[in-house]
Amino acid sequence: MNERLTHFREILRYVPRFRDRVFVIAVDGAVVEDDNFPNLLLDIALLRSLSIRVALVHGAAHQVRKAAEIIKMVPSDLDGTGITDKDTLQIAISAANRVTHEILEGFSANDLRAACPNAIVAHPAGILGGVDHLFTGKVERVDAGLLQTLLEHDIIPVIPPIGINGTGNSFRLNSDAVAVEIAKTLRAVKLIYLNTEGGIRGAAGVVRQLTVQEAETYLKNHKKELSRETTTKLTHAIRAGKEGVERVHIIDGREQEGLLGEVFSNEGIGTLVYANEYQAIRQAQKKDTRAVFGLIQQGIENDELVKRKRADIEKIIGDYFVFEVDRDPVACAALHVYPEQNMGELASLFVDDRYENQGIGGKLIRYAETLARSKSLAKLFCLSTQAVPYFVQRGFTIGTPDDLPPARREKYDQSGRKSAVLVKALT
Ligand SMILES: CC(C)(COP(=O)(O)OP(=O)(O)OC[C@H]1O[C@@H](n2cnc3c(N)ncnc32)[C@H](O)[C@@H]1OP(=O)(O)O)[C@@H](O)C(=O)NCCC(=O)NCCS
Repeated sequence: MNERLTHFREILRYVPRFRDRVFVIAVDGAVVEDDNFPNLLLDIALLRSLSIRVALVHGAAHQVRKAAEIIKMVPSDLDGTGITDKDTLQIAISAANRVTHEILEGFSANDLRAACPNAIVAHPAGILGGVDHLFTGKVERVDAGLLQTLLEHDIIPVIPPIGINGTGNSFRLNSDAVAVEIAKTLRAVKLIYLNTEGGIRGAAGVVRQLTVQEAETYLKNHKKELSRETTTKLTHAIRAGKEGVERVHIIDGREQEGLLGEVFSNEGIGTLVYANEYQAIRQAQKKDTRAVFGLIQQGIENDELVKRKRADIEKIIGDYFVFEVDRDPVACAALHVYPEQNMGELASLFVDDRYENQGIGGKLIRYAETLARSKSLAKLFCLSTQAVPYFVQRGFTIGTPDDLPPARREKYDQSGRKSAVLVKALT
């Protein structure tokens, strides 16, 4: 019961942020055929009930392969990335139509209104590397007005991987690429790829999150080990991130509650590629001592933060990072590392009153977590007198002074502040 309640609270926390914003959900054809698809539709119904607008893009490679097998034909391309000959185009059109229809049926069964608009204006991919790609197409333009009209009327656009050009000819498109274009056009806050491989698998399991820049480096360094599917998804996630989509998730569409878990908790199952929201955050330098001291002082006066002298801050200024608005530090935090215990302390988190409730505190916490992970720390802890629920909502659990590294425990006992101890495992 408690766990469920926590889960429910987590969901509610995200509601105001996402109200009336658009999520683009891109499902591979194989996901539509999976047993979990009805659950996914229920999850989308939940998103809709929270006033999140959804546009659904789907693929059809799986269905093209199956349809071709039945008639013992070898398709010239499966997913709109290769050369689409005339016969393959015909199979792709009927397979894609079938998938669209199944999705519309599923939405109807969940009392959701949906429609398949002709919203993609395509043109031929043309001659690439000296080879004519025939009926493989590229997105030329997305009919934003048409999609917006549907969304405003609570209708979910269902977009197949087929586009039509100005003279009425059809082209096979790659659904991952279509999803990027739709997400850009609708200024989606999230693009969620649902596949059958899940997130990016590194040596230590699924890579949970990467900035766009990190994703590019990862792709370059691991190209040989990554499957074709993963490479395509990652490439498109990077493109989306570079072109203004803040968050791209890659998750396994066959996992029950995978979609909700990913969207509504910090502990999702897939990989998140995010545009660098940390650009406003930078490591503090000596010249920032004054600003950091000034910020912390406000917290000390309210007994929210422990007292620190300016000279003490200056000594360990390298542990601090600041959030800047117009080059002015308006918030700060520090990560103190306890190497022997493999732990880090998130300390001195403070957001100037004028900038509260804009998500800056949350960003600094995530930054500290990413920094701690990059130092291979196993646990993060923080001490708080007045923001305990705040940290709990962000995945920390209430611990005891025994959870602190011995050196920190000693200082804790001496201070007499009796702060709550909050702990978060980083694995
Ligand atoms: C706690 C603090 C860091 C939050 O920063 P912020 O940038 O305003 O927070 P965010 O924008 O990320 O989150 C805002 C949400 O947290 C909630 N929140 C803010 N302070 C809270 C607190 N003390 N307890 C519980 N919830 C709190 C807000 O009500 C808001 O909720 P909503 O999303 O439902 O509207 C900031 O208020 C602060 O500097 N406090 C004083 C210093 C402190 O206590 N630091 C922690 C000890 S290290």
